[in-house]
Amino acid sequence: MTNSLQHPRLGDKSNSSWFEEFLPKLLEDRDRIGLTDMIREIDALMLTVEPGCSVAYVSELALMTPYHYLVTLESESHWTHVLRVDMNSPDLLVREVRDPSKHGIFRSLNEVYPIGAHKPNSRYMGEIFRVTNLHDVVEMQKTREIRFFNQDQIRKLELPGNMAIVKPSPYTHNIVGYWERPPEDIRVYALGNSVIRDDVNRGYQEAKETQARLDLDKLILPIDHLATRIYSQNREVAILEYLTLSSYYYWGSYDIADQNSSTNVTKSIHYPDESFSPAKVFTAANNPYFVNHLVGLPSPTEAFVRNYGPRLHHVALSVADSETNGAANIDYVVEAIKAKGKDFLLDVIGSKEEGLKQIFSSASEHSSLIIEYVQRFGDFDGFFTKKNVAGLTAAAGVEENLRLLQAESTK
Ligand SMILES: [Fe+2]
Repeated sequence: MTNSLQHPRLGDKSNSSWFEEFLPKLLEDRDRIGLTDMIREIDALMLTVEPGCSVAYVSELALMTPYHYLVTLESESHWTHVLRVDMNSPDLLVREVRDPSKHGIFRSLNEVYPIGAHKPNSRYMGEIFRVTNLHDVVEMQKTREIRFFNQDQIRKLELPGNMAIVKPSPYTHNIVGYWERPPEDIRVYALGNSVIRDDVNRGYQEAKETQARLDLDKLILPIDHLATRIYSQNREVAILEYLTLSSYYYWGSYDIADQNSSTNVTKSIHYPDESFSPAKVFTAANNPYFVNHLVGLPSPTEAFVRNYGPRLHHVALSVADSETNGAANIDYVVEAIKAKGKDFLLDVIGSKEEGLKQIFSSASEHSSLIIEYVQRFGDFDGFFTKKNVAGLTAAAGVEENLRLLQAESTK
């Protein structure tokens, strides 16, 4: 039986006594009933984009990530493009609604937020975990008061029929799904008709040729972590809820005091290599917005959540640890991608001596998601440094203020 409490706590932020009471209770119970061992790696990530945006977004991902276009699942009112690195990293399902007037639950989650409402279909949806026994996992989770969409709802939402999908979290607005797949079997999504779309394929091929010509295909590695932003008061419950839904453990939290924020890390208990099952990170402000005038600090994290709603903020990709043309790979990658017209929110921050370098791209105009690149040097295993997280959080905050002004001026 796996022991989800085997790792020492890292980071420097302290938690409430309630959190410290229920963290071991939840994990011990999850281990004891066998859920930890039945829930394995993240097998797929799902997101939606605006009508007309998916072709351009697949091209963007083909240039900026190691993902390849595999196939499009055509259903009555959606196209779902399946992107894959290989069977050792999660797939990415990029979904586009065919009818702009169509309303659904994922759109509703965007519509009450001032910037989120501008792109109501752009949203990261959540992760699908591979499980060894779907029936048992679902039944156990139901006894723990986890709520699932029923089969009819999954059919109407046009999500793959071979998945059990949990209703969106009240804290993160993300979903978690489960499906059963023997590890030697390839991933097959039970949804609509499989077609290769010429327009998607053309954009993908062009971007991949550019990526290979610049040698980026050897330098940009699979996803390292997924970072979700949540309201300040939901920090602890969002972490514990995710541990309830997954087989992840609590790595620890960094307090980023001068940005009035914290970064809270959970990781797979089964797979130490993030490329196989990415770390899940939750970022929350240290104070709710209405005391900011008393605290007197910037509050980029709470501002993001108030603008977009709780949601995934960025997807971080690893960069291979070596040099190209005498520069750290991450510096080379960023310059090459900038030359192709993509913007970044700041310069590359961190250093080899500190163990890692990181950067945020501007938010994609197609998905609103930011891409982070992260290069770890040598045997650095701190995962993050406080200094870098503070720099990244501040840069995203500057962008946030601009976006709010923009959104308000176009009302
Ligand atoms: Fe990050």
